[in-house]
Amino acid sequence: MTKKEKLHNLKDEMEKDESLPLKKGANKLVFGSGNTKANILAVGEGPGRTEDIQGLPFVGQAGKLLDKLFFLAEIERKDIFITNIVHHRPPENRDPLPEEIISYGKYLDKIIEIIDPKIIITLGRFSMAKFLSNVFISNVHGKKFEILFKDKKIVVIPMYHPAASLRNGNILEAEKQDFLNLKSILTETLRVENDKVEVEQIKLL
Ligand code: URA
Repeated sequence: MTKKEKLHNLKDEMEKDESLPLKKGANKLVFGSGNTKANILAVGEGPGRTEDIQGLPFVGQAGKLLDKLFFLAEIERKDIFITNIVHHRPPENRDPLPEEIISYGKYLDKIIEIIDPKIIITLGRFSMAKFLSNVFISNVHGKKFEILFKDKKIVVIPMYHPAASLRNGNILEAEKQDFLNLKSILTETLRVENDKVEVEQIKLL
C-alpha cells in the first residue's frame, strides 16, 4: 500500500470514530494535507473556523501568514505535509484540553509513522509539548532538537504559532527571523540524511 492509500484509510477510520471528543461540535474533520512523501511534517494546534468549513489545515488568516513565513524558508506547501494536534475545531477556538490531545494523539502518531518525516516543525506550544518536555517556547523557538519517536531519530524545530504572531508584533519579528534561519537548518539536516543514505548504499555494494 502506498503512503497515500494508508493515509486515506486512516482518514476514513477517523471519520467513523464517534469517540473523538470534539467531533460533535465540529463541521469537518481536518485530517491534514500536502505531500504524502514529504521529508518535512508541520504540526499545528487545531482547526479554526475556516479550516472547519473547508476541511483543510491552515487555510484561514494564520494560514496566510504561515505561507509567507514558509516563503522566507523557501518552503512550499507542495513540499511538506501539514496536520494538527487535534483534528476537529475546539469550540470558540479554545485551547485543546489534555484529554482531547490524548484522544487525537493516537491518530497523529499514525500519521507520523506513515509520513515518516525526517523533520517535524511544530507550530505553537501544544504541538511542541508533544515532542519536547519541560521547555518554554520563548526559550527554544527556532532551535533544532533531535528526538526519538518510536525508536526513530527525528529533528524537531519548534516555532511560534502564526496566530500568536498575528497578535503580537515582537513575536512576529522573532518568527520571521526563525523562518529565515530555518532554511539553512533544513538544508543541513536533509544533506546529512542524504549522505547517510549514500553511505548505507555503499555498504550494500
Ligand atoms: N491553526 C492551527 O493550529 N491549525 C490550523 O489548521 C489552523 C489554524
